[in-house]
Amino acid sequence: MNSILLDTLKGKTTDRPPMWFMRQAGRVLPNYLALKEKHSFWEMMQNKELAAEVTLLPIDDLGVDAAILFSDILVIPYAMGMGLDFTDKGPVFDTPISEMQLPLSKFKQEPEKLEYIYRAIDEIIKTRPDNIPLIGFCGAPMTVLTFMIQGLGSKSNFGDAIKFFFKEKTETKKLIEQITELSIHYALKQIEHGIEVFQLFDTNSGMIPNDLYFELFLPSIKKISKAVRDTGTPFIYFPKGIGFGIEEATYDICDYVSVDWQTPIEKARKLVDPKVGLQGNLDPRLVFADKATIEEELKKYINFGRNNQNWIFNFGHGFLPGSPFENARFICDWVKEQEWR
Ligand code: CP3
Repeated sequence: MNSILLDTLKGKTTDRPPMWFMRQAGRVLPNYLALKEKHSFWEMMQNKELAAEVTLLPIDDLGVDAAILFSDILVIPYAMGMGLDFTDKGPVFDTPISEMQLPLSKFKQEPEKLEYIYRAIDEIIKTRPDNIPLIGFCGAPMTVLTFMIQGLGSKSNFGDAIKFFFKEKTETKKLIEQITELSIHYALKQIEHGIEVFQLFDTNSGMIPNDLYFELFLPSIKKISKAVRDTGTPFIYFPKGIGFGIEEATYDICDYVSVDWQTPIEKARKLVDPKVGLQGNLDPRLVFADKATIEEELKKYINFGRNNQNWIFNFGHGFLPGSPFENARFICDWVKEQEWR
């Protein structure tokens, strides 16, 4: 495949940095918002034609260099038997772990509940343009577990989940093992069905001290990463909010690390193993500013891009709901118009 993203991941020289955005499909595109008027999120995920259509929308609408599978990190707890609904207020579990009796009994492992996702991947691979790789993903065990314990998504600060990690270390470790096992199965199936790059989202990794994060969760990251990389698939790790802990994202763990918007990209470059490439880290909220302000911020990346070919242009977290499409498109056009080398 003639892809600027895959070339960069292989260490080849390209004319400009490859570009894609976290949450590029399900939040910013007028074409997506129109589909959402007619279909629920579950429906769009579970219907392979709709899932493929939504996955591929950002290719033309924004002009990005890769597609990311239209799914969600919470399909794993769903396949562990937890009742899950996606509501206007975000994802809600029927019975969060914080309301369950301890000690917990073992969760189910129902990988067949993920089958529809592989049919969506097949459909995407069949219908995509031939220069567009497909990025697969799952949530890292810590982030998935914070949702499972807390039960309710968007507006939460995950207080109960964090307390649980401190109070119930043995239970936490058992849960991490179960999530990791199913996540590896899920990642390998995505690869078998044709995804070319894999990203692990650890959105909540900064919510506990680095030491505790490394003790409890880094072993699971290593296991998932090894399983993915053993197939030759490049592995991008997004430990959002991890601060100085980004130093631990060595080549043992990942091919690329996705830098959050809190960390200056030049600082991240100094902290991270030189063999590991970087992705990021424009603040996704910048799209709410005017074009002149956006351009000022974008210009700061030119030098970085000239000095660092192992870099993927992206945000430091996903698009927010309500992001103005015009400005998102402006960023994509701007990146393509610059002299990067
Ligand atoms: O562009 C894309 O949207 C790609 C597919 C994708 C979704 N979720 C679709 C989705 C991806 C990559 C995710 C990842 C995800 N899901 C993360 C990690 C990345 C991040 O943003 O931090 C997390 C923490 C979740 C959990 C989750 N799922 C939340 C908090 C919500 C609430 C609302 C929202 O938009 O974030 C969801 C639901 C969800 N996942 C929707 C979509 C399109 C919205 C569903 C709806 O509008 O009903």
